[in-house]
Amino acid sequence: MPLKLTVIGTGYLGATHAAAMAELGFEVLGLDIDESKVATLARGRVPMYEPGLEDLLARHVAGLEGSTGRLRFTTSWEEVADFGDVHFVCVNTPQKQGEYGCDMSYVDSAVGLLAPHLRRPALVVGKSTVPVGSAARLAGMLRELAPAGEDVELAWNPEFLREGFAVQDTLHPDRIVVGVASDHAESLLREVYGGPIAEGTPFIVADYPTAELVKTAANAFLATKISFINAMAEVCEAAGGDVAVLAEAIGHDDRIGRKFLRAGIGFGGGCLPKDIRAFMARAGELGADQALTFLREVDSVNMRRRTHMVEWAREALGGSFLGRRIAVLGAAFKPDSDDVRDSPALNVAGQIHLQGGQVTVYDPKGMENARRLFPTLGYAPSALEAVRGADVVLHLTEWREFRELDPARLAEVAGQRHILDGRNALDAQLWRKAGWTFQAMGRPNA
Ligand code: UDX
Repeated sequence: MPLKLTVIGTGYLGATHAAAMAELGFEVLGLDIDESKVATLARGRVPMYEPGLEDLLARHVAGLEGSTGRLRFTTSWEEVADFGDVHFVCVNTPQKQGEYGCDMSYVDSAVGLLAPHLRRPALVVGKSTVPVGSAARLAGMLRELAPAGEDVELAWNPEFLREGFAVQDTLHPDRIVVGVASDHAESLLREVYGGPIAEGTPFIVADYPTAELVKTAANAFLATKISFINAMAEVCEAAGGDVAVLAEAIGHDDRIGRKFLRAGIGFGGGCLPKDIRAFMARAGELGADQALTFLREVDSVNMRRRTHMVEWAREALGGSFLGRRIAVLGAAFKPDSDDVRDSPALNVAGQIHLQGGQVTVYDPKGMENARRLFPTLGYAPSALEAVRGADVVLHLTEWREFRELDPARLAEVAGQRHILDGRNALDAQLWRKAGWTFQAMGRPNA
């Protein structure tokens, strides 16, 4: 009998994982405590912007015309426990209010609500990003609460997907990492990932703490790489160098690599910032805080970029935002996403607004979420409308749409032809040719 899978939590991670597993041929039941989310997914709709995900849902959600019917959604823990051989826990682990640590309440409550219904053998697989030590604790919780006792096991299988590439990253991962406490758990996970995903994909078997740490270490490394290049941007600005050329030149060294070396206003989103903070907090609890003090610097270089952008914009306006109009291109924390959690773009827009600037934001997909989070900012229905009458334009999220803008057309409506590229992604020559004063971060501003 093929394994039956369940996915608990249907956010970015869970909805994508559920759809991808159905694509691989498994029967999948997704659970969320949010009834409206379940109803939306059951109609084949995705409550967020994630390219390719609706196509996968259309192919597999039961009841949709022409679908395989392999994917269903529910709010019932009992149904999930009866249905599944393997249960993937994909719930959110946000930063705790007012402190660095990770809020484990969603994971704890998911396991706590599932466990009492587990009356037959099952493998519970955590995918959420958690502080090291969580898996061992949750395994104990399962042993205590599950009626099937020893027949219920736990594994940890971190997920490395990027928003905007969630489907692609899930179906074609760089590597699969599983933290297991038994051969049986390993063989079940090999069965899940044994099909097309496994071909040529490294399958790394580890213990619980190593598997948990792989995820936090990977995110800490990525954050460090971005802050490193942003620190170089600061030096370039002071010395008159060009950080984009520098990044390209060091990136050609294979040991360094070219990816994640784009200097700008830094990293944001629901993962990197909170993950490095949670990592520091956990290391402190373990008495290993010294090992990660450098992450404090990574975090502060990153936050400094946002303030630097604000100061740079103020300077461009002659020292004050009062009575000035600022067009902000970008609200999402990165392109191809509608996610505005800890978005550097919105943070900059918010700071300028608080300092008296009249800010107008446009983003191709993030407008609704931005409006909800920052209702007092101004919003425009297009880049052109945001730029209309602006004294300065800030490019803060590098959407393709912005790279394809016609600077000559924008020049006709702008108040002042002055643009600051906070993402080092626009073609300086093109803008300058159209009469704009163009400045980019960490680059000489001829
Ligand atoms: C990240 C990890 O990449 C992923 O493996 C993990 O599972 C979750 O966290 P994500 O948050 O979707 O994924 O975004 P990512 O593409 O990593 O970008 C993070 C932030 O870094 C964005 O704000 C982006 O704009 C910024 N960034 C990225 C830079 O500032 N410079 C770069 O060179 C690359």
